[in-house]
Amino acid sequence: MLKHITIEGVRNLAQVQVALPTGATALFGANGSGKTSFLEAIHLLAVGRSFRTHQSKPVIQRGLAHCRIVGEVQRRGRSIIMGLEKHRDGVVKARVAGENVPSLSELALHLPLVLLDTEGLGVVTGPPEGRRRLLDGTLFHVEQGFLSQWKRYASAVRQRNSGLRRGILDSDKAWRREIAETGALLTQHRQAVAAKLADKLTRLAPALSEDFEALEVVFRAGWDQKLSLLEALERNAASDAAQGFTQVGPHRADLRLMRDGVLAADVLSRGQLKLALVALKLVQGALIEDASSIPPLYLVDDLPAELDREHCARVCEQLGAGRQVILTAVDRASLEAAWGDKPLNLFHVEQGRVLPA
Ligand SMILES: Nc1ncnc2c1ncn2[C@@H]1O[C@H](COP(=O)(O)OP(=O)(O)OP(=O)(O)O)[C@@H](O)[C@H]1O
Ligand SMILES: [Mg+2]
Repeated sequence: MLKHITIEGVRNLAQVQVALPTGATALFGANGSGKTSFLEAIHLLAVGRSFRTHQSKPVIQRGLAHCRIVGEVQRRGRSIIMGLEKHRDGVVKARVAGENVPSLSELALHLPLVLLDTEGLGVVTGPPEGRRRLLDGTLFHVEQGFLSQWKRYASAVRQRNSGLRRGILDSDKAWRREIAETGALLTQHRQAVAAKLADKLTRLAPALSEDFEALEVVFRAGWDQKLSLLEALERNAASDAAQGFTQVGPHRADLRLMRDGVLAADVLSRGQLKLALVALKLVQGALIEDASSIPPLYLVDDLPAELDREHCARVCEQLGAGRQVILTAVDRASLEAAWGDKPLNLFHVEQGRVLPA
């Protein structure tokens, strides 16, 4: 769990120090007070980048050269200090327990996050990329070595595409074989975790909405499943050469969210879409909880937005069971009403200051 966080120069948070208790914490405050920025700072520490932008500059407070976040993470009674510094030119320095981390992906191993942000609806309604990221982000915690498999596959596709673009075809057969080999392995893992997600979703989703009895996720591997990946690549070889890129394979995979056989994005209401996203993320969190020795920290931005009181309360019911959760809301009363009698630590955010309420 994240016990303590110090934030310096993240957006309007000039200097913030907060001790986070176990269980649930809620931040409330006016528009523009710094609530999302607080979650963003935790995300920076745990992932190395923001969830709002890929650039460094917007995140760093105007007039400063860098921002810094330091967190104390507790795991089985032991404290570990994590620190991250992000500079305007994009340079990122991260340390865990006094050592520089060679790759930012290592940060997430110490502080796994499940993020429910307001822009997150795109995962349900947008292109497959966001859903692949959800699937792969889960696999990263569930399947050791997944990241290196993924990197091998992505590198093979990149190199093949570069050859195709330049019309260099003599090594194409070898690249197709490398893509088929690494891609098939990747897909096996994705298939396995997608099945677990599907199973958990069927059990969890109806608790959030009566309309979710028939909500399901359907995994698409990224090529015609009547063929092996190698066969699919061979069949597309001439067309790929003409187009200059690899048209089939795991980089085209999807995890479709369906209700009654129709894409959920086409039939659900706005609030229901948000609930469906919550369901997916809760299921992701549950899988990480099952697989990893470190339970994830749940960051939930502006929960009451677009949800009625009853549905907001149902989400709180699911979130509240022994997890470390940080929620935000504009209005204190609406969040407290939805949270019910369970303990909730409250902070008030005011012009970049985070104070106990
Ligand atoms: N680089 C920056 N330097 C200084 N201030 C910034 C920077 N980027 C954004 N801000 C300001 O930081 C403030 C905090 O924004 P944030 O999104 O955290 O607010 P919020 O509390 O989540 O509001 P809302 O309820 O509207 O979602 C805003 O007033 C914004 O204008
Ligand atoms: Mg916000």
